[in-house]
Amino acid sequence: MVEVKKIAVIGSGLMGSGIGQVALMGGYSVVMVDIKDEFVDKGVAKIQEGIEKVAAKGKLAEGQSADDVMAKCSKSIDLADAVKDCDFVIEAVVERMDIKKDVCKTVMDNGPDHIIFASNTSTMSITEIGKESGAPNRVCGMHFFNPPPLMRAIEVIRSEDTSDETFETAKAVAASFPCLRGDRYIAPVLKDAPGFIVNRMNAPVQIYLSWCFDQTAQKGLDWSQLDADAGGKMPMPPCMLADYVGLDTMVHTMNYYKETLSEDFEPPKILVEMVDKGNLGAKTGQGFYDWSKGRDVIKSKIKEAEPAGLFDLNTTFAIMLNEGCRVLDERIASGYKIIDDANMAGMNAPGPFGWGKRNYEAAAKMLNELADKTGKDYFRPIELLKSGEFSKMRK
Ligand code: 3HC
Repeated sequence: MVEVKKIAVIGSGLMGSGIGQVALMGGYSVVMVDIKDEFVDKGVAKIQEGIEKVAAKGKLAEGQSADDVMAKCSKSIDLADAVKDCDFVIEAVVERMDIKKDVCKTVMDNGPDHIIFASNTSTMSITEIGKESGAPNRVCGMHFFNPPPLMRAIEVIRSEDTSDETFETAKAVAASFPCLRGDRYIAPVLKDAPGFIVNRMNAPVQIYLSWCFDQTAQKGLDWSQLDADAGGKMPMPPCMLADYVGLDTMVHTMNYYKETLSEDFEPPKILVEMVDKGNLGAKTGQGFYDWSKGRDVIKSKIKEAEPAGLFDLNTTFAIMLNEGCRVLDERIASGYKIIDDANMAGMNAPGPFGWGKRNYEAAAKMLNELADKTGKDYFRPIELLKSGEFSKMRK
């Protein structure tokens, strides 16, 4: 395994700063890299704020103060120079293949011969990112969930070219990043496939939500009514979660799945309109909701709203069960326990297999009805679900 002491985090936005924070808390030296001083400064300020909170609760490693931890954090706007003395790189730049490939090649051209490049992409092919870098065997995926200090899961992805040493080192590095809520959970992703495990399993839920969004708009209902359908049973109901993740990200990922999985992932009109207006969700202060007065105001609006009667939580379980079966069928994960555990650790929500083992026949019926109602054939149950054979694939 490669000995890792210094990590470069490229891209110091929301994800990058969260990754920088957990890497610092793991005891590594960290250099935060971006294209402009103001971006790096903002990212480091966010890290400082986070580390101070952790220190105030006495949760830093023994004998460490916030200043000790922050002393190991440096900044750079010169990528080639920044990676010269790094052992490991995690990139969290914009989701554009040309930029990711460029960043990867710059790292491999300028870093030491042992440097490992991990991409935090949620959608792109790791194999393609690394292909022309000169060292594809030292490229892998490391997919975090937002916000990285609070969400336990990290998926570590093996590309077609990732070496055993890179994969093992990346899993060990990821496991050494502390989490503020329970133990870190590392999900090994055995195949470089769209959405990896957790996002893939949740992907077709977006087709269902898209249908719900359009129905809500057509019926002239308020978004809080759609969220009220979740009955407080989700950590964040659909519209709120979409705002939190970013509506542009949702449109972007749906377009990606449309290209790689099925035409049925066409993003809904209402979402595209909001994105065109620059209403991207929590990060711009406006999406489905006005975020300027904080999350609690939105939560109480949802609590008081009359349910729309459109969104049904069990339907999402059936959809996830079917997609989880596809993940098993394609050998992306070795067993359903990993899929369920990764979902709990990455989304704070239970996976579908516990429920699915008892309800797969009902799920198959629900999925066929949903396909008929929405005209989306991607919902139709696959053989592994219909037969119940998935229940033999635990590990
Ligand atoms: N450093 C230190 N402390 C922090 C911190 C940080 N960076 N961030 C938050 N905290 C602290 C807060 O100050 C707070 O402390 P307190 O209890 O003393 O007040 C505590 O941690 C909890 O923070 P919040 O109050 O913000 O946490 P909530 O209880 O409201 O939970 C949540 C927030 C964990 C985000 C929860 O709403 C949730 O689970 N949501 C679902 C999120 C989700 O699904 N994420 C995955 C999205 S998909 C994805 O990321 C994949 C990608 O490909 C897009």
